[in-house]
Amino acid sequence: MSRNRGHSVRFSSARRRALYVIGVGVWLSGGLWLLFHYFLTKQGEFGPQSNPLEPWWLKIHGAFAFAATWLFGLLWGTHITVGWRSGRRRASGGVLTGLIFWLVLSGYLLYYAGDDRARSLISIGHWGLGLACPLLYWIHRMRKRASARSVRDREQTILEASAPERGSRVPR
Ligand code: HEM
Ligand code: HEM
Repeated sequence: MSRNRGHSVRFSSARRRALYVIGVGVWLSGGLWLLFHYFLTKQGEFGPQSNPLEPWWLKIHGAFAFAATWLFGLLWGTHITVGWRSGRRRASGGVLTGLIFWLVLSGYLLYYAGDDRARSLISIGHWGLGLACPLLYWIHRMRKRASARSVRDREQTILEASAPERGSRVPR
């Protein structure tokens, strides 16, 4: 059976919107937590006191993180596997995919990692690379665009090679 039938590496506008809303949401909520946690604490009677908004950014971040894993699964079946077979943008796309894997894995470990020292290292690895996401995304996104026609022709060749007898067609 042909895999990825009918999927194009190009994003539909709905999918692009979902990517921006979830991507900005997960990045901003994590970034705001960092800002509040490291720079907006108050000196209280018994030492530094965290801002009441701080836990909210993490709650919001957790919600966006669920949405991000869902979106990643969707992109895997549509964009990533189709893009990989086209042989284009593999380096930047592969690095971006690896980064998302790491964010999901380290997000999980933040809940369950053993001791405080391990957790704080994982935390730095999580947000340090998380903050770099927009740059890697931008590099991947801004690579020279192929014409719509050459993308279609290439995807058609891939589909025919994986299911020649079915005569699968890329939707126009
Ligand atoms: C191994 C992984 C990946 C590969 C091989 C890959 C491949 C590609 C290719 C070939 C294009 C060019 C499409 C065109 O000709 O316009 C592209 C564009 C794009 N990629 Fe990826 N990609 C990968 C991962 C990702 C990931 C993880 C994301 C998002 C988180 C992403 C987001 C985008 C976006 C937004 C575009 C622009 C698409 C458009 O203009 O419609 N890619 N990718
Ligand atoms: C696929 C994307 C991501 C997933 C699945 C994810 C997941 C998670 C999870 C599960 C937590 C633990 C929440 C808690 O302790 O209640 C967390 C914490 C955090 N995330 Fe993310 N995250 C993602 C992307 C990002 C990005 C892009 C940033 C960049 C700013 C970021 C920054 C943070 C920060 C600062 C924390 C708090 C760290 C700590 O408690 O020590 N995350 N993330």
